[in-house]
Amino acid sequence: MAVLISGRGSNLQALIDAIAEGRLDAEIAVVICNHKHAPGIQRARAAGIATYVFVRRDYESRETQHEAMLACAQEHDAELIVLGGFDRILSPAWVETYPNRIINIHPSLLPAFAGGMNPKPQQDALEAGVKIAGCTVHIATADVDAGPIVAQAAVPVLADDTVDTLANRILAQEHRLLPQVVQWFAEGRVHIEGDRVRIAGVIPCLWWSDG
Ligand code: GAR
Repeated sequence: MAVLISGRGSNLQALIDAIAEGRLDAEIAVVICNHKHAPGIQRARAAGIATYVFVRRDYESRETQHEAMLACAQEHDAELIVLGGFDRILSPAWVETYPNRIINIHPSLLPAFAGGMNPKPQQDALEAGVKIAGCTVHIATADVDAGPIVAQAAVPVLADDTVDTLANRILAQEHRLLPQVVQWFAEGRVHIEGDRVRIAGVIPCLWWSDG
């Protein structure tokens, strides 16, 4: 897989750890980042993963920047693209090159609280007064946070939650969910049928509750 990051890279770290611990039978071929000082770059380099930074101002347009990133993923033979806190919508060329092969993790139970980057979705959930929040892994399409939902994990919203405490509770689930979803892809279990995704042999609602 190629992992695209923009910041902290804790979801990238969860993938690195899952591979090291034998829970994920996959390889991170390359990490692609769009911010020079993103802390996640150090995590990738510490794990010995090829890492490249593509800063927008080094390119004429967003399209040419995204073309260069896409060429990089292809040169490293990536078969699955994982958006782990990537803060831009990928150009249409990405979606055409990797149909149903780009997954994104978002810190809300989509379709609720779509759009916006961490911590906005968690803040919106808190302000809306929902009692259950969570995260979603979905197929990335040309629309923001709108592709078919692959899996979700839910957490309670507690009376004394702040954005930070809620975001941390959700993040712990992100770190479980994302490696598991990539493993399902690696095992060929993921079947996308229109807007619905079936995971062969798995009942995701039992999975997320530790059942
Ligand atoms: C994660 O919470 C992820 O769900 C969110 O950004 C954070 C990245 O953290 N993604 C979005 O908000 C996408 N709209 P990380 O860099 O530590 O993995």
